[in-house]
Amino acid sequence: LTAHLTLDPAFRVAPVRRRTFGTFIEHLGRCVYTGVYEPGHPSADENGFRRDVLDLVRELGVTTARYPGGNFVSGYRWEDGVGPRDRRPRRLDLAWHSTESNQFGLDEFVTWTRAAGVEPMLAVNLGTRGIAEALDLLEYCSVESGTRLSDMRVANGAKEPHGITMWCLGNEMDGPWQIGHKTAHEYGRLAAETARAMRMMVPGLELVACGSSGSGMETFGAWESTVLEETYDLVDFVSCHAYYEEHDGDLASFLASAVDMDHFIDSVVATADAVGARLKSKKKIDISFDEWNVWYMSRFQGAEPPRDWPEAPPLLEDHYHLADAVTLGGLLISLLRHSDRVTAACLAQLVNVIAPIMTEPGGRAWRQTTFHPFAQASRHAGGHVLRTEPASPLHGTERFGEVPVLDAVATHDEETGATTLFAVNRSTTQPLTLTTHLRGLGTPRLAESTTLSGPDPYARNTADTPEAVVPRPNPGTRLSGETLELTLPPVSWNVVRLT
Ligand code: AHR
Repeated sequence: LTAHLTLDPAFRVAPVRRRTFGTFIEHLGRCVYTGVYEPGHPSADENGFRRDVLDLVRELGVTTARYPGGNFVSGYRWEDGVGPRDRRPRRLDLAWHSTESNQFGLDEFVTWTRAAGVEPMLAVNLGTRGIAEALDLLEYCSVESGTRLSDMRVANGAKEPHGITMWCLGNEMDGPWQIGHKTAHEYGRLAAETARAMRMMVPGLELVACGSSGSGMETFGAWESTVLEETYDLVDFVSCHAYYEEHDGDLASFLASAVDMDHFIDSVVATADAVGARLKSKKKIDISFDEWNVWYMSRFQGAEPPRDWPEAPPLLEDHYHLADAVTLGGLLISLLRHSDRVTAACLAQLVNVIAPIMTEPGGRAWRQTTFHPFAQASRHAGGHVLRTEPASPLHGTERFGEVPVLDAVATHDEETGATTLFAVNRSTTQPLTLTTHLRGLGTPRLAESTTLSGPDPYARNTADTPEAVVPRPNPGTRLSGETLELTLPPVSWNVVRLT
C-alpha cells in the first residue's frame, strides 16, 4: 500500500492548544486513593501524593486536570472534602456504589495540580445541587478573603485563591444514569442561571455547558441546540464525551474510531454555529472534549454492581493493548486536526481507571500502551496544526464503510522550525509506504522517527514487563531534499520529527 501527503507551513488550521492534553481525575475506583494519593506509600510526599505517579504525570505531558467527576460530581458535596481530615464525613457514592472517605478533596486536588504543574479545572454539581452551592464553591476558591467561605479556605491553609478559570456546569446531564438527570430545557435554564451568577462573582471565567454524553444518545443534536439556545452568551464551551472499544473482534472498525470522532465534532460545531446564526451572534462556541478514551464499557455494563459499599475498589481498570494505543493515537489526530474549534480536551482518566498510568497499592507504577501516543503528542505537537490532505488507499470497515487506511496530522513551530508528523496505519495486515512532500520548510534534518507497532496487536505492558510495547526507532525512514519516505507497519502509531 502507498500513500502521499504534502506539508506546507502556509496551510494552517489553528495553533496547537495546550489544553488538548488535559486529563481527568474522578473519585472513582482507585483513581484518587492508591492512585494519585496514598499516604504511607514509599514514594509519598508530605501531602500523601505518590511521587512515582507525579513523575509519570509530568512525563505524560498533562496540561489540565478535570475534577472531581464525572458521574461522581452529581451527588458530591464539596464541603465534605475540606478542613481537618478527622472531621470529614464518610458518604455513600451512589454513582459508583462505593464509600467516599473524603480524605482527599478540593484543597488537596489544587495542591496536587501545583505539584504536577497542571491547570486545575472543576465541575460543579448540578445534579443534586444548584446555583447557591456553585456560588459557595466559587467563593471558597476565588474570593481573596474577608467572606465566610474565602476565610474558611485561608483557615484551611490556602492563603491565595485557587485561581481556577475553567468550570464545567455539571456532568452528562442528558444521561438517565446521572443523579439529577434533566431534560435539555431544564438543564439549559439551570446552566444559564448558574453561569450568570458565577460571572457576577468572578469575571473572566471559562464555562462549559454539558453537551451529550455521546453521539449515540437519542437526544444528540437536539440537546446541544436547546442547551445552547439558553446559554449561548453565557458559556464558552459545549462538552463532548466519547468512548470507543473493539466490538466482536472487529479490529478494522475499532482502528477507524477517529472517523466517528471527526463526525461527532463536525456535527456539534454545525449545531452550535446554527444556534449562533439563529441568535444573530458573532460569537463562536468552542468544544471541550472533556471525556475521551478507549473504554471497554460493555464489560463494565455487564458486571454486577458490588453488594456492599467498598472503599476505593478496583473499578474500570482496563488493561490496554497495542491496538488500543493505536486507536487512541487516531483519536488524538482527530482532536488536533480540529484545533480550530476543539480548544480543550481531557483524556478520561489519569490513573488506574481507564488510564494510561497504573499503580499497585503500596507498590509499583507503570505505563500502559496508551501512555505513549499521548506523551509523544503532548511533547512534540507545537506551533500550529497544519492541514494535511493525505491521498490514501481506502479499505472497508463494518461500522464506517470505506475509510482511508492512513490517518495523519502535522504541526509546525515557526519559532523553533520543528515539524512533527503523527500518522496511523489502520491496516490490520499490510504495511503502508508514505511519501511526504515538504514545501516551504527549508532543508530540515530528520531528528527522530518512531513507531509503536509489533507482531501482536493485542500485546500489553504489565508491571513486570512495562517496556513490552513502547515506541521504537523506525529504521526505514529517509529524508532526501524535500521528500520524506517511511513505512508504517500494520496497526501502528508513528511520529516523525524534523528540526
Ligand atoms: O469516565 C467514566 C465516566 O464516564 C464518567 O464518570 C462519566 O462522566 C462518563 O459516563
